[in-house]
Parts: sequence; structure tokens; C-alpha cells
Amino acid sequence: MRQRLGLASCAVILLAATGDAGQGPTLRAVMRDKLTTAQTLLGAVVRHDFSQMELFARQLERIPYAEVVSWQAAADRDYVEHAVALLGAARNLREAAAARNGDAAVREYSALVTACTGCHSHVRKMRTISVPIR
Ligand code: HEC
Repeated sequence: MRQRLGLASCAVILLAATGDAGQGPTLRAVMRDKLTTAQTLLGAVVRHDFSQMELFARQLERIPYAEVVSWQAAADRDYVEHAVALLGAARNLREAAAARNGDAAVREYSALVTACTGCHSHVRKMRTISVPIR
């Protein structure tokens, strides 16, 4: 019986540890979702499918600014700028689609990808220099 209880509490601790992994899993899920949405959006942009463009650009816009910034405990200025650039490009892309402007949609899609990669390289850089020195 004692052993059983021990196993049960182990399971509880394991569960708690997984649940306690901070923002990691949520951030991952949001990012994977963004990747899928951005890929679908690319398909719409190259096909000049304006209604799909509006739909998927709106989905990217739906992630509120406050949430984007909360992904980093201490979001610095550059991080915030990339976040703003992402939301701005998604909004502009939706507006280009509403205006049935295919060229503008391509430009905004490119700005969107630049925001993704810009933020990611910023995060990588910050990580490299935040390694604690002992
Ligand atoms: C403002 C910053 C920012 C922007 C903009 C951004 N990301 Fe991310 N992304 C992150 C951070 C932070 C992580 C987590 C990195 C880590 O912990 O490894 C991440 C991780 C990811 C991952 C990996 C998820 C996993 O499974 O681990 C993918 C895929 C991704 N982002 C896609 C995108 C796409 C696509 C876009 C643009 C549409 C985008 N991101 C824009 C900050 C950003």
C-alpha cells in the first residue's frame, strides 16, 4: 500500500512538473499555429485568393499584442518592435486583400516573414549573450 501511494504521488509530482513548465508549451502551440496559418496564407497570396487572405491574415492578427509581449519575461524594445511589426504586417495584408491588391499583399506577406525571422534571430542572439558566467 505504501508503495502504491508512493507511485501515485510520483505521478502527481510529474504532472505538476509538466504543468509548471512556464509559458513554454503555450508559446510552442501558438507558434506552431502561426506557422500553419502563415503557410496557408502563402498559398492564398500566390493564388490571389483574396477571401482566404483576409481570413488567415485576420487569424494572425487575432493574437493580441499584450500576449505577444508576455511571451518574454522581460520583453526588450527590439522584441516589442518585432511583435508590433508582425501584427502590423498581418493588418496591412488583410487590408490589401480587402482592396483586392495582389501586389500589396505580396509585399505585406514578405514583411510578415521578415517579422517572424527578425524576432527569432533576436531571441537567438539574446540567448547567446544571456548565458550566465560563472
Ligand atoms: C515577437 C517575437 C516573435 C515573432 C514575431 C514570431 N515568433 Fe515564433 N517564436 C518566438 C519565440 C520567443 C519562440 C520560442 C523560442 C524557443 O523557446 O525555442 C518562437 C518559436 C517558434 C516556433 C517553434 C515552436 C516549437 O515547436 O518549438 C515556430 C515554428 C515559430 N516560432 C513560428 C513563427 C512564425 C511562422 C512567425 C511569424 C508568422 C513567428 N514565429 C513570429 C517569438 C516570435
